[in-house]
Amino acid sequence: MTHDDPDQPSPPHIGPIADATANTTAHPSPSVANSAAPGTTVADAPKHLRRIRSFVTRAGRLSIAQKRALDALGPQFKLDYRAAALDWPATFGRTAPRILEIGFGMGATTSEIAERRPGDDFLGIEVHEPGVGALLKLIGDKQLGNIRVIQHDAVEVVEHMLPEASLDGVHVYFPDPWHKARHHKRRLIQPPFVRLLASRLRPGAYLHLATDWQNYAEQMLEVLSAEPTLANTSTAPDGYAPRPAYRPVTKFEQRGLRLGHGVWDLVFTKV
Ligand SMILES: C[S@@+](CC[C@H](N)C(=O)[O-])C[C@H]1O[C@@H](n2cnc3c(N)ncnc32)[C@H](O)[C@@H]1O
Repeated sequence: MTHDDPDQPSPPHIGPIADATANTTAHPSPSVANSAAPGTTVADAPKHLRRIRSFVTRAGRLSIAQKRALDALGPQFKLDYRAAALDWPATFGRTAPRILEIGFGMGATTSEIAERRPGDDFLGIEVHEPGVGALLKLIGDKQLGNIRVIQHDAVEVVEHMLPEASLDGVHVYFPDPWHKARHHKRRLIQPPFVRLLASRLRPGAYLHLATDWQNYAEQMLEVLSAEPTLANTSTAPDGYAPRPAYRPVTKFEQRGLRLGHGVWDLVFTKV
């Protein structure tokens, strides 16, 4: 699957998962609730953030394995969207660094990173149901206890469920590039959303973006550099960062790199 369809956002890189062995048992989770901590509220963000969405709703067909994973593991690992602050310790059953991933696609990268970083808790957000089913299947297959997923618009989740200065990291990998200039307004990485995301980071926390579309990489660099509460970690003259070791190279990316296409990582921290 490539990212060069001019009219539609690109589907996730990773192909459909095999329809086998979905019914595995994952680590027991002490709590399945995404309950709001009593009395907590989340600061309001500008209303215009909600008007233009960064995705189109696709009627994706669920594979048998994805459906099975949703049924078997959804109650344990899938959280409902609620306009109330997420209680991370109650949800994960521990207190650990909190990493948000926006638009995880089929979840292959998410599950690999969570496997490599067992001491961190990961909240993945994706609107596409087959992707949610695919990540739940990976959670079961790999016995991962440190991922929870929400199927909802990430803008609303960040706005309403994640309080200010509550995150240790944010990952946004290969967000839909919306190639045509008239669709650029749909791109996720825009100044208002980056301001909102930055407000959710603790001081010293990081924002890690990656894209294979040069024009979007340039926009990301411009938007992040203009956000006064973020600082670029890169010392390279072009401002892009080397790929951090925790981010695996996807199959799609490998193919692109073999064909000479570029991939740009950006890593900024909250000042
Ligand atoms: C091009 S895919 C990349 C998927 C994955 N990160 C990867 O690298 O393979 C972008 C994904 O972001 C999701 N997405 C776009 N806007 C979103 C939003 N506002 N909230 C949640 N997911 C979103 C899309 O459904 C899509 O699966």
